[in-house]
Amino acid sequence: MTKILFVCLGNICRSPMAEFVMKDLVKKAGLSEQFLIESAGTSRAGGPVYPPAKQKLAEHGISCKGKTSRQLQKGDYDVYDLLIGMDYGNLRNMRRICGGDPKQKMHLLLDFTDHPRDIADPWYTDDFDTAWLDIEKGCQGLLLRLKMREP
Ligand code: 4NP
Repeated sequence: MTKILFVCLGNICRSPMAEFVMKDLVKKAGLSEQFLIESAGTSRAGGPVYPPAKQKLAEHGISCKGKTSRQLQKGDYDVYDLLIGMDYGNLRNMRRICGGDPKQKMHLLLDFTDHPRDIADPWYTDDFDTAWLDIEKGCQGLLLRLKMREP
């Protein structure tokens, strides 16, 4: 089983979108049994998915029912195989909380695309369309990479 934790700042916009997009892709590929996919934030905890993010998922037939934000914990580093941030600031915070990345488990989501870069935070840009496209592209690239690792 491959355990993936998507991480952003608030865990109410980008990382929950990535969590549920990835779950959807994996389900459509018939691979759900092989993955644990969750998300967390480096700052706060306890809130529901931000309505525009939830709406964007719903537009694509994806539910995020029951998701509430949670904060990244140091111990998450040992639990997950991959900890995937949305932007470089997330990566910095992830390394700080987890005490570094000695096993090189941390990546940016768009590292799995042809155009590695940050995913702009729609909390500030209000551009959920661009966030959706970037997240979808990143998750597709990640799944492709993981499938290539199969025997
Ligand atoms: P996210 O966006 O990191 O993509 O979930 C944010 C959501 C909330 C806040 C910042 C970013 N906030 O400061 O409350």
